[in-house]
Amino acid sequence: MSLIDDVNREKLPSHIAIIMDGNGRWAKQKGKPRIFGHQNGAHAVRQTIEGAAELGVKYLTLYAFSAENWKRPKIEVEALMTLLVSTIDEELKNLIDNNIHFQVIGNTNLLPDSVKRKVNTAISKTKHCSGMTLTLALSYGSRWEILDAAKKLADDAIQGKIVPQELTDEVFASYLNTAHMPDPELLIRTSGELRLSNFLLWQMAYTELYFTEVLWPDFSKEELYKAIVSFQHRERRFGKTTEQL
Ligand code: FPP
Repeated sequence: MSLIDDVNREKLPSHIAIIMDGNGRWAKQKGKPRIFGHQNGAHAVRQTIEGAAELGVKYLTLYAFSAENWKRPKIEVEALMTLLVSTIDEELKNLIDNNIHFQVIGNTNLLPDSVKRKVNTAISKTKHCSGMTLTLALSYGSRWEILDAAKKLADDAIQGKIVPQELTDEVFASYLNTAHMPDPELLIRTSGELRLSNFLLWQMAYTELYFTEVLWPDFSKEELYKAIVSFQHRERRFGKTTEQL
């Protein structure tokens, strides 16, 4: 029996963000090199995109490469970049066929030209798509994003385009990479690690957190349904009391 029957389609989280963790440990358990874990992680990425789109989730954001991941051994970074290029290549037709709008957040200037080219092609070929928005966080770090927003805001204030006293949550959010996207309602992190690792810190002020021991390459549509069902059983109070809801 599939858990999909337990998912309430009327109460889907509009935005799901995922920290895909545990590729290296998954490979190690099998006596294989880390890149073998990442390659199988790409399979879980495909399953998750398909599962979320089939349900009707509006936004899916995947933490594919953090600002800190540049510190990994050169050989692993290069393998991850190659995998990104080949996965985007292989998936582009599926994205278009499934009306999925593709975008990227992060300090993309640092990406190799081959990745930049592939990413830009996918963005331009899916810009008319009006179904789910799939966002890859690449070379992304939340503190970098917030600092970058603060610098742009300060510039605009110096030029008189914005008055500091009139700054609101909404105005600040419009300077972030995620402007035009709702905040995530559900964050999933695999592999049993219990931290946010510099991911969407501003945006996750009220996000429901779901942690699972499952290693990312073993993540599947069923695991996605399990996380959504858990989300749907929670009471989200946003600071109010139960009676006020
Ligand atoms: C974390 O596992 C995973 C990553 C740093 C990279 C995520 C990449 C993928 C899921 C594969 C390809 C992605 C796309 C979008 C095509 P880890 O290496 O930190 O695992 P560990 O903590 O067990 O060492």
